[in-house]
Amino acid sequence: MPGNAGRKKVLVIHGPNLNMLGAREPHIYGHLSLDEINAQLQDLGEKFEIDVETFQSNHEGILVEKIQQAVGTCDGMLINPAAYTHTSIAIRDALALLSYPVIEIHLSNINRREPFRHNSMIADVVAARISGFGSYGYILALEGLAKILSPDMRMVEGQSDESL
Ligand code: DQA
Repeated sequence: MPGNAGRKKVLVIHGPNLNMLGAREPHIYGHLSLDEINAQLQDLGEKFEIDVETFQSNHEGILVEKIQQAVGTCDGMLINPAAYTHTSIAIRDALALLSYPVIEIHLSNINRREPFRHNSMIADVVAARISGFGSYGYILALEGLAKILSPDMRMVEGQSDESL
């Protein structure tokens, strides 16, 4: 099992310029900083008993190497490749190495924006995409991934008879 004490492990990868969230075009990307988004994901991971690791880089090769290191060491991945979504065959090829579910995330709805943002190089190597919910998309993505990884999983806090 990749995570601590048999827990599932999810790696969250953030691409270029996402380290500037909060200050960066807040009318498009919102007011939360990347640290705040990561903290929310850590909290939600605890509720699902999932180890969440977060990683950000502005460099394509570093992102590729991080994805390569995640081969066999994680159970799932969330990735917002940011601008590399639209350009990077290298990131796409790295993601194709993974045998577990990957969720593509965008804060903005990329299909409502400039035409060059409409194409995603990774669209057909991911399990699902969430785009246009702002930072809440990361929460939705982790919930969805938790459900894929453990269909019977309940949140530790507020357990109920209802499934997720
Ligand atoms: C983005 C959309 C991309 O087109 C853009 O280059 C980003 C962020 C998003 O989260 O909406 O940097 O991936």
